[in-house]
Amino acid sequence: MSRRLVFAANWKMNIGPDDARRFCEAFLASYRARPGVETWFFPASVSVPAVAQALRGRTDLRVGVQDVYWERAGAFTGALSADLARSAGATMALVGHSERRHVFGETDEMTGKKVRSVLAAGLAPVLCVGETLDQRQRGETAALIRRQLEAGLGGLDPAGLASVTIAYEPVWAVGTGHNATPADAAAVHRDIRGWLATHGSVARATVLYGGSVRRDNVQQLLAEPEIDGVLVGGASLKVQDWLAITG
Ligand code: PGA
Repeated sequence: MSRRLVFAANWKMNIGPDDARRFCEAFLASYRARPGVETWFFPASVSVPAVAQALRGRTDLRVGVQDVYWERAGAFTGALSADLARSAGATMALVGHSERRHVFGETDEMTGKKVRSVLAAGLAPVLCVGETLDQRQRGETAALIRRQLEAGLGGLDPAGLASVTIAYEPVWAVGTGHNATPADAAAVHRDIRGWLATHGSVARATVLYGGSVRRDNVQQLLAEPEIDGVLVGGASLKVQDWLAITG
């Protein structure tokens, strides 16, 4: 199967609905669609409807939320369920982003519940995994990634696994200007594929790399056959930068 190439924008806590609408208009005016290439947007949840509306009718352009809570509805002030995300126009959800884990104290166990709730709502999860600098220096990367995969995806059936995308984002590379070498990232991607294969995955999973991806390093990363695409924070916030990356 030929690989699908994905460019995913994680806008984090930036870009409100009006700016999102303007961003999408400018993006669509210059974006060149190509077979096998998808571009995904993860705006702040308040901007999901604006992006969904701007991208409607395009199967190669998708929108998702940056996080969900695993309960379906009820007295959970401030939280967003996967069902609510879908009703706002999202078709995907990030789960376990390193900022959720390290700023908001999200545990491995929580990521497992979130992945299941995202799948139950009919959305596609993007599970983020990645080690800290300390963990890398102690040689713990492979074991940590396996633990995060086990917690997030353990026990899913092949159909569930087939709708999951994995984003490998070393914590020390997110927002820091440092990134993994393409070869280092590819080695972790191979471990991720190995774990998936031994846990019932039959399809070729889409595995993205994230962490300080910019217009001047994206092509080197994508030259690695293991790397199916990129998840981009800072360099996705300005339409010209994002066009240069996705172009
Ligand atoms: P960055 O963020 O590109 O700003 O490093 C990536 C991410 O957090 O997904």
